[in-house]
Amino acid sequence: MKGWRKRVLVTGGSGFLGSHLCGKLVDDGCDVLCIDNFFTGAKDNIVHLLNNPHFELLRHDVTFPLYVEVDEIYNLACPASPIHYQFDPVQTTKTSVHGAINMLGLAKRVKAKIFQASTSEVYGDPTLHPQPESYWGNVNPIGMRSCYDEGKRCAETLFFDYHRQHGQRIKVARIFNTYGPRMHPNDGRVVSNFIVQALQSEPITIYGDGSQTRSFCYVADMIEGFTLLMSSPDEITGPMNLGNPNEFSIRELAETVIELTGSSSQLEHRPLPTDDPRQRQPDINHARRTLGWAPKVQLRDGLKETIAYFKRTLGR
Ligand SMILES: NC(=O)c1ccc[n+]([C@@H]2O[C@H](COP(=O)([O-])OP(=O)(O)OC[C@H]3O[C@@H](n4cnc5c(N)ncnc54)[C@H](O)[C@@H]3O)[C@@H](O)[C@H]2O)c1
Repeated sequence: MKGWRKRVLVTGGSGFLGSHLCGKLVDDGCDVLCIDNFFTGAKDNIVHLLNNPHFELLRHDVTFPLYVEVDEIYNLACPASPIHYQFDPVQTTKTSVHGAINMLGLAKRVKAKIFQASTSEVYGDPTLHPQPESYWGNVNPIGMRSCYDEGKRCAETLFFDYHRQHGQRIKVARIFNTYGPRMHPNDGRVVSNFIVQALQSEPITIYGDGSQTRSFCYVADMIEGFTLLMSSPDEITGPMNLGNPNEFSIRELAETVIELTGSSSQLEHRPLPTDDPRQRQPDINHARRTLGWAPKVQLRDGLKETIAYFKRTLGR
């Protein structure tokens, strides 16, 4: 049909990942409806899209039902960093669980395909490294992080029950640590923390000796994974790990950030928190095999883009 565009709903579309996804979908020729309650999202993240006739923004909270006509739904709404999701833990669980019920209900009514932004946190404090999708996790149901971890686990349960019970088309991605422009400057994540500290010539705080490793996926790679999973055949439901398996020590990350910013910051060591994992790394064999997807952006290149963004926003 001439002029037909896929209508795509993105919940949490003004957040870090959501804003990049909205941009890519508009570029790919979709009509995008972005909904957000602006808890952690910002209009600045999507300001460049506001005058585009194929982009629409609606202030809405996913814990309430929504009635719109769409072909696909990406459900990203949920605060992602511990300081934000622990601010109002009851609302965090409601956002994951009621949000999933409302979006799955909408998808059912309009026969839309629906994607869930799940998380590596469903594995909790894993006893297996790296974690394949078949690992059921080791999650504390009553701790400070449970509002997020258990909320996301219950959302996955709902997705698979709607799929089994109603034959709905679902796509569940388990997202690992992602970084890039439009991250929150003060959300306590290691990449944004180090860059902000370096740009402000403050000491870079390292917990423990810095030999613990992490893996970081650049946002453009992650968003490509989202859209590839969404357009994969219906029998591919996930859950599917998406992340970058390349490991870097925290010390290496700090030293690279200092080098790329040209900062005079020094490393400052603090005691290691008791729950700090030694290693966190995704097993992405499932995504490699079924989507032919793997991250392409090298850490140094992604860090350069992220540093440039923080320089602009911090006015440095
Ligand atoms: N960034 C990562 O490394 C990462 C890792 C694992 C999972 N995820 C998941 O990806 C999704 C996006 O994460 P992000 O890093 O972009 O976080 P973010 O906090 O930048 O974005 C979340 C967005 O959801 C919105 N939101 C929160 N509660 C809402 C509600 N009740 N109704 C409507 N909107 C609401 C926020 O305002 C924000 O715009 C989240 O579901 C998160 O759990 C992210």
